[in-house]
Amino acid sequence: MRLLTDVWTRKSVAALLAEATHDDPHSEVRPLKRALSAINLVGLGVGGIVGAGIFVLTGHAAAENAGPAVTLSFLLAAVACAFAGLCYAEMSSSVPISGSAYTYAYATMGELVAWIIGWDLILEYAIGAGTVAIGWSAYAVSFAKDFGISIPSEFASAPLNFDASSHAWSTTGAILNVPAIAIVVAMTVLLVIGIRESSRFNDVIVAVKLAVIVLFVIFAAPAFSFSNWVTAANPAGHFIPPNAGTGAFGFSGVVRGAAVVFFAFIGFDAVSTAAQEARQPMRDMPVGIMGSLIISTILYVAVGFVLTGIAPYDQLNVPDPIAVGISAAGIGWLSPLIKLGIVLGLTSVILVTLLGQPRIFRAMAHDGLLPPAAAKIHPRFHTPYVSTIVSGIVAAAFAGLLPIGLVGELVSIGTLLAFAIVSVGTLVLRYTSPELPRPFRAPAIWFVAPAGAATSLFLMFGLPLDTWLRLIVWLALGLAIYFSYGRKHSRIART
Ligand code: ALA
Repeated sequence: MRLLTDVWTRKSVAALLAEATHDDPHSEVRPLKRALSAINLVGLGVGGIVGAGIFVLTGHAAAENAGPAVTLSFLLAAVACAFAGLCYAEMSSSVPISGSAYTYAYATMGELVAWIIGWDLILEYAIGAGTVAIGWSAYAVSFAKDFGISIPSEFASAPLNFDASSHAWSTTGAILNVPAIAIVVAMTVLLVIGIRESSRFNDVIVAVKLAVIVLFVIFAAPAFSFSNWVTAANPAGHFIPPNAGTGAFGFSGVVRGAAVVFFAFIGFDAVSTAAQEARQPMRDMPVGIMGSLIISTILYVAVGFVLTGIAPYDQLNVPDPIAVGISAAGIGWLSPLIKLGIVLGLTSVILVTLLGQPRIFRAMAHDGLLPPAAAKIHPRFHTPYVSTIVSGIVAAAFAGLLPIGLVGELVSIGTLLAFAIVSVGTLVLRYTSPELPRPFRAPAIWFVAPAGAATSLFLMFGLPLDTWLRLIVWLALGLAIYFSYGRKHSRIART
């Protein structure tokens, strides 16, 4: 019988590093080639960051929370990410192992916190992939329509809806979001077969994404008019529309908007998982993480500003707000090109996210916290096929049934919790392992780490109570699984 205190047992960083360098040919954590330059890492970051957040959730946040001040929401979210990003940069250079936040938590706060963060990361990765798939579906349907192919909306939208004002679930009459499920299935099959994005492929996709955003901003900007800031709820056309309840416009709306669009920044932590592949982690990890954050922030503020200036923000609460903006700006000719770029861009985010989830599941199974099957490697494809398929099923279920706003908020709250724990963990590791070589040290850690945790918590408090309740239910379910399975089967327990 294990003592309750055992659950705080930490894995030593030395043991983690030894496991990571153990040359198992079927292991995903075998030594990796240090092939990525700073530019590649920035490309990886932008490739994983820019997706449904900017192309879909901007409209939701502008219409429901912040109006034209969605640009302020982007800046607020970027500041929170910058603090957490510095902590990720330090952790990834000193504990360069692909389990990301789960591994960092194991090294700093022990098994129980590691389990909580691993379970929580399902929200960021598997459900994150589902969220991006819902955005993919909207743009794919809209793109197909431009070519005369019409997909009935009952087969391309969520059958379930949650009304935040009445706190009630309802059915929408739709049957299933088939395109959203289809893209998740397609990416899952690719990942099981073992197709990996090469850095070059990623660079091409990133170039297409950037080109699409720059084209949108350049061609839509001439149609900008402050008259679009004037709506029934904002007759004076203020930049920050008057408050209409907690989280609905005014300052609290800007904060809630930041919590919603925070989703758009998720993915820079994917850069941290490439720490073992960076040529010079000391110099390149911070460049990769902070560089991709800065580029994404500039793009997001530009798109948010232009979009709310070419169409009234109260018309943007749709799954494809950029498409609404394009037609409002009278640049319909650009539409197919932009939509194709968006569809491709979202595809790579889904692929990268679904690639990350099985790695985390596998690390958890390796530690005995999940059944050994989750660590199984396909004999022919050499991929963690069981955990890849499970990740795909979870993502497809959320993508097929639920609306994007709801799952997007759940992903954001889960990721913010991970950021808060990684920020605290960075400080804890400075204290518990002061001698550990740290190729990159976050500056002013006594300020940056608490600020990373505080801003993440601040944004979490910007999310609705319903989202908190869902997070609590999710974590309670995770704890029940830990105490009935993981605690008994963990490697630490067995030794
Ligand atoms: N940041 C990623 C996106 O917006 C998850 O799609």
